[in-house]
Amino acid sequence: MSFVPFDSLPGVIWLDGHFIPWKEANMHLLTHAFHYGGAVFEGERIYNSKVFKLREHSQRLIDSAHYMGFTIPYTVEQLIQATEDVVVKQGYDEGYVRPIAWRGSMQMDVGALDHKVHVAIAVWEWPSIFGEGKLEKGISLKLSQWIKPSPKMLPLQAKASGLYMSSTLSRLDARNSGYDDALILDHRGYIAEATAANIFFVKDKYLCTPIPDAFLNGITRQTIVKIATALGVPVKEGHFSFDDLMSADEVFLTGTAYEVQPVKKIQDQTFRIGEMTHRFIDAYHELVRS
Ligand SMILES: Cc1ncc(COP(=O)(O)O)c(C=O)c1O
Repeated sequence: MSFVPFDSLPGVIWLDGHFIPWKEANMHLLTHAFHYGGAVFEGERIYNSKVFKLREHSQRLIDSAHYMGFTIPYTVEQLIQATEDVVVKQGYDEGYVRPIAWRGSMQMDVGALDHKVHVAIAVWEWPSIFGEGKLEKGISLKLSQWIKPSPKMLPLQAKASGLYMSSTLSRLDARNSGYDDALILDHRGYIAEATAANIFFVKDKYLCTPIPDAFLNGITRQTIVKIATALGVPVKEGHFSFDDLMSADEVFLTGTAYEVQPVKKIQDQTFRIGEMTHRFIDAYHELVRS
């Protein structure tokens, strides 16, 4: 399969207040975040030239930095403006946005305090995370051998690079085993989420989803709960076992990159992509473009 490497995409990246040619937007090898996993980032989608929930994502970037003990030197308004500027410069009316903030390379010390904080915003085209047709046909999930850490170990509401080790290992293993993605349990053995998306399942006409006390409470997840309320679909948030999930009628994942992604198989068991999943796909599709 041929693809353009990410450091060679076209256009510019917004870096610390300036537009830099894409290939020149680099950082030093002795950057603190590169060694210790403390970068914080966002994933946003552009629909009809507008970034969906841009204010919420910009606020979450600032909050994630606070969880990681540093301050982003821009306000929400400034991040919104910078994002809108780079979206216009890149010229995509549909695409993906990746803001990222990190401690720089002033000190090589785990607990370094005196670091300049850098912020970059990159925009590229990314139609579908799992490729053509998967949004309709559904994806397969492998139960991961890795679990999410306990919230006593790390601030799980931060969208921070160091928290993605279990996701990286889980998705790698799932793909090597012929699955599209992985399902990860939490530290108590309850179902948590997929590698970069939250999970919902339909059972006895209820829309069920785990309580977000041990994984990221996604902005898409919160949107889907609101859509359910508007559609009159009862929502059950709880601590669900793997067996609860396997007895579901329908299963789907939600996230900025995944959107509403039906699941057709978990381990060896297949699920139908039913009427309820289609209602949420349609309602979300309509909302993001409205
Ligand atoms: C680990 C994880 N969980 C959930 C989500 C879904 O979050 P959102 O809906 O805010 O994109 C993401 C994506 O950012 C993620 O990386």
